[in-house]
Amino acid sequence: MNRRYRKTVIAANWKMNKLPGECKPFIQQLKDKAAEAKWCDVVLCVPFTHIASAVKAARGTRIAIGAQNCHYAQNGAFTGEVSCRMLSELGVKYVIIGHSERRQYFGETDTDVNRKLHAALEEGLRPIVCLGEKLEVKETGAALDFIRCQLKAALKDITVQQLRKIVIAYEPVWAIGTGKIATPQQADEAGEAIRDTLRALYGARAARGVSILYGGSLNESTAGGMFSMPDVDGGLIGGASLEAASLISIIDAADQ
Ligand code: 13P
Repeated sequence: MNRRYRKTVIAANWKMNKLPGECKPFIQQLKDKAAEAKWCDVVLCVPFTHIASAVKAARGTRIAIGAQNCHYAQNGAFTGEVSCRMLSELGVKYVIIGHSERRQYFGETDTDVNRKLHAALEEGLRPIVCLGEKLEVKETGAALDFIRCQLKAALKDITVQQLRKIVIAYEPVWAIGTGKIATPQQADEAGEAIRDTLRALYGARAARGVSILYGGSLNESTAGGMFSMPDVDGGLIGGASLEAASLISIIDAADQ
């Protein structure tokens, strides 16, 4: 991480876990650590059904509530979907866009990701845009090219002013939920490729201000090594974010 230029972000992604009633006690446990962690923005991305309780419990704390997905339209005949305007009115500040599970199980394309990104920015939400290669791409040695392509597609017609609101998360698909974490060097290499692409598209100044997170089997024992890398500005954490104690240790590691 490089605190001179950009924020450290620790974002928990609960995925489809826990119940709405679990938000309040969890936030109670987390809030003092979030207040203490001066260098670090703490974000809790919960299922849609949990948002109202989470926002209420997080009021007056330094914990921001995020959603895990959104639709690109403001409203309309999209049964079962949730728009960015709805999220924003509830008090949501962040939204994860293009998570590999959305791409893999729900057929989200790069075009969908780009449309959702525009929609989120329009409503004043901070998007956390996920990129990452599958194992078969990694094995061909084309991982960095693949990430660059995903990034360019996601950022189509995004302006330099809009880029300031965006957080990028590098989440190699082979590392998600597998216990097979990327090495800090691999994560940093991907971070560097992402930043180089941003520099080519938006210039050096804009590129160095973007926080690039790592996600995939990150836990309290691996967080410190990961966050010591120059192009890893925090984490997007799945499994290890379900226990307040491990999330707190990860925040500690990021706030050193
Ligand atoms: P795990 O930390 O469970 O591997 O999940 C990572 C992730 O997908 C966060 O978005």
